[in-house]
Amino acid sequence: MSLNNFLPDRPLNIALLGATGAVGKELLQLLEDRSFPINELRLLASERSAGKFQSFHGSQIKVEAVDSEKFEGLDLVFASAGGSVSKKWKERINNSGALLIDNSSAFRMDPDVPLIVPEVNPGKAFTHKGLIANPNCTTILLTVVLKPLSSLIPIERVVVSTYQSASGAGAQAMQELQDLTQEVLNGKKPKSSVLPYSLAFNLFLHNSPLDLNSYCEEEMKMVNETRKIMDCPDLSLTATCVRVPVLRAHSEALNIQFEKPFPIEVARELLLNAPGVELIEDFQKNRFPMPTDVAGKDSIAVGRIRQDISHPNCLELWLCGDQIRKGAALNAIQIAELLITRP
Ligand code: A2P
Repeated sequence: MSLNNFLPDRPLNIALLGATGAVGKELLQLLEDRSFPINELRLLASERSAGKFQSFHGSQIKVEAVDSEKFEGLDLVFASAGGSVSKKWKERINNSGALLIDNSSAFRMDPDVPLIVPEVNPGKAFTHKGLIANPNCTTILLTVVLKPLSSLIPIERVVVSTYQSASGAGAQAMQELQDLTQEVLNGKKPKSSVLPYSLAFNLFLHNSPLDLNSYCEEEMKMVNETRKIMDCPDLSLTATCVRVPVLRAHSEALNIQFEKPFPIEVARELLLNAPGVELIEDFQKNRFPMPTDVAGKDSIAVGRIRQDISHPNCLELWLCGDQIRKGAALNAIQIAELLITRP
């Protein structure tokens, strides 16, 4: 790795590990849209996808099955093929001299691994030792919105409920939601195989494994990762995570308790000017953010900022953000962009 942990100052040799998945495909699109400086691009996935083609800047790139030779000569690997795949290849990637930006949860809470949201803790990215973790999707959306508020008045407690789309469970879960919705419309009884239950005209508590404290893994990721990203080890946060029959983009209802009352107009102004945030708020028309407002978009939409009538120090607000974009692929690319932008 070069001096100061920047990426080399030239077009980079890059691999997408998990290139055929929902996040991998979005990474590919964003690399093209953002004219990321690329010399060579390798698309890696499992044996199942070897030989398929994906388009990039008008040319067709062949997907290859990952093996230990495929990381030779690379500068940067974006991994979005799940924790076990990242764990399996991490050492090989680092031995080849490449930086791994990992979308899985495998290394996020490792104290040696920076967990980065560029709008929140960009400086930490430069402390990496060959691996940077991309946070959990709902946590990224949450911290981008908490940060500008906490910069003015410290936060004491956050209560969050999530409404998470099928995209969070990958491309197969998105397809299953479409297929099972059609089955219900055709009068059939939907039978799920990707998610534990059918999401069609339904919702259920997040299906990640339950902890001993009865919180699920997703909820505890929000607690622990938010504390790490915001560098607030004692922050009180409680979450309830729910899967909803939305194809793409997550929503979150937040109750934020500050050390003292937070004037609504100041909060609105801060969020209006916060990087990565847009305000969708028309009280006259009762119009606030919806998943369809942000699907395929970079910004996180915030609205219905209001005083909590039950507590003078609390604000309520609602947000929507594209899980595949800012919640995963875009955030990963923004991390890499931090490391290529020289002062
Ligand atoms: P493949 O399409 O060959 O199965 P998603 O999160 O949308 O389900 O995508 C998962 C991604 O991870 C896909 O690109 C998938 O490739 C890839 N993947 C899954 N298992 C492996 C593996 N053992 N080795 C490499 N890539 C894998």
